[in-house]
Amino acid sequence: MPAKSDKDKRQSIIDACRGMNALGINQGTSGNISLRHDNGLLITPTSVPYETMQPEQIVFMGLDGSHDPSQRPSSEWRFHLDILRARPEVNAVVHAHPPYSTILAIMNLEIPPIHYMIACAGGDSIRVAPYATFGTQELSEHAVQALEGRLACLLEHHGMIAVGPSLSKAMWLSVEVEALARQYHGCLQIGTPRLLPKQEIKNVLGRIAGYGPADK
Ligand code: 13P
Repeated sequence: MPAKSDKDKRQSIIDACRGMNALGINQGTSGNISLRHDNGLLITPTSVPYETMQPEQIVFMGLDGSHDPSQRPSSEWRFHLDILRARPEVNAVVHAHPPYSTILAIMNLEIPPIHYMIACAGGDSIRVAPYATFGTQELSEHAVQALEGRLACLLEHHGMIAVGPSLSKAMWLSVEVEALARQYHGCLQIGTPRLLPKQEIKNVLGRIAGYGPADK
């Protein structure tokens, strides 16, 4: 697969942002997306409506956090940068405020193994990172920790992060996490759901590796 140009990557970030809102996993100017690029990352600008966002507004940031001072990267640039630094296998980070994921995050409820698809997020749970103010180094540290050995986490009183080897996989996982959150929320209305055993999640993990849309 030929490497994507800088312009194509910028446009794919904008398309994904619009996709988050169209898919119902985000609203307004909430959320942000980054994609590894050269020796750094491309990241959405802060508080720009996705309908009007232009490729040149996407900010290039070095792995040291440096960027063109005339541009304003997402307020969450710290966790995007720290995740990409900590996880060499990750190339895309999607942060959104999906309704059901955020309900569980507010209630500080991690998602347990209610459905085998939880394995797509890398293990038998989707953890909740403890609350810290948006945009802070503290939030970034909590997020990196909650993502250890995982590809998704919830952020208490805030939202969700999904990561992946490509933007298409991170977007797909975002939708799956929200589906799991919705299923768990539904189960809790009826009673206490039974959980899949750890051994079965291990079994599924072995079979599900690489599942999901082609990387692009
Ligand atoms: P930005 O517009 O700064 O990316 O912030 C949105 C958000 O969701 C913060 O958590």
